Amino acid sequence: MAVIEVKDLTYRYGIGTPFEKTAVDHVQLTIPTGAYVGIIGHTGSGKSTLIQHLNGLLQPTEGTVMLDGKDIWADKAEMRQVRFRVGLVFQYPEYQIFEETVFRDIAFGPKNMGLSEDEIHARVKEIAGIVGISDDMLEHSPFLLSGGQKRRVAIAGVMAMRPEVLILDEPTAGLDPRGREEILCEIDLYRKKTGATILLVSHSMEDVARHAEHILVMNKGSVFCYDTVQRVFSRAGELQKIGLAVPQITRVCAALRQNGLAIDENIYTVEQAKEQLLKLLRQKGVNRGC
Ligand SMILES: Nc1ncnc2c1ncn2[C@@H]1O[C@H](COP(=O)(O)OP(=O)(O)O)[C@@H](O)[C@H]1O
Ligand SMILES: [Mg+2]
Repeated sequence: MAVIEVKDLTYRYGIGTPFEKTAVDHVQLTIPTGAYVGIIGHTGSGKSTLIQHLNGLLQPTEGTVMLDGKDIWADKAEMRQVRFRVGLVFQYPEYQIFEETVFRDIAFGPKNMGLSEDEIHARVKEIAGIVGISDDMLEHSPFLLSGGQKRRVAIAGVMAMRPEVLILDEPTAGLDPRGREEILCEIDLYRKKTGATILLVSHSMEDVARHAEHILVMNKGSVFCYDTVQRVFSRAGELQKIGLAVPQITRVCAALRQNGLAIDENIYTVEQAKEQLLKLLRQKGVNRGC
């Protein structure tokens, strides 16, 4: 069953002005319930524009966006519910923090939903646990936190609405590798606990390879390809033609293969490469009778 279906979506900025620009061009897309889709593509390929349609922040110039089989624009009174069900974390969400305490900032969304104080409290605590915010920190001013922690608070604020579809626009941009991995693991944990569908826009092939199950490649406003991680990365040559590269470790393994090492073709993460190399080393050990 598809939670989101995008039918022939086109979006143009600045219609009727000299700056008119088709940012999303006849996109068809089906997101199965519970999927984890990584969205990659160059700057300007239409990723942010596309995802802003999925919770009704942008209205299609042409085409439809369906949530659970219903056009989200069919009944405007329903849009509030759509925004609660499809949570969107913008790029650099830390700039949208404004409350006096971390607790209040995370509670802002659930409060808007009209939940009881008890429920709000329970949700803030649960989500704080998922993103690693201590009880102590909940009472601090968010403005005293580090950049990475602020971003966590902002992500937690969207998660606290318990969206069934969680969309994140480059949530790891500007963070160091450890900060990146932590946030991605927290997203995994949210998914595990809630069964939510995840859409992750990312610049990093490595991050997408490690966490997503499907990849949507956008190119010049169109879907270049949309398939499993394995099948998308098996098209390395085509990706290279549009200036995108498969993960670095995939290229390293390809070079090793060319040099005669019997290493699998489907290696996308350092962990997979490590396993393979250890296996080969062990086999070599056995062959030598060690
Ligand atoms: N607010 C806007 N007004 C006019 N053009 C825009 C606006 N936002 C984005 N664009 C243009 O739309 C295209 C797609 O942009 P965007 O969706 O932000 O791509 P991405 O997120 O992949 O970088 C780009 O050519 C960009 O310049
Ligand atoms: Mg963008």
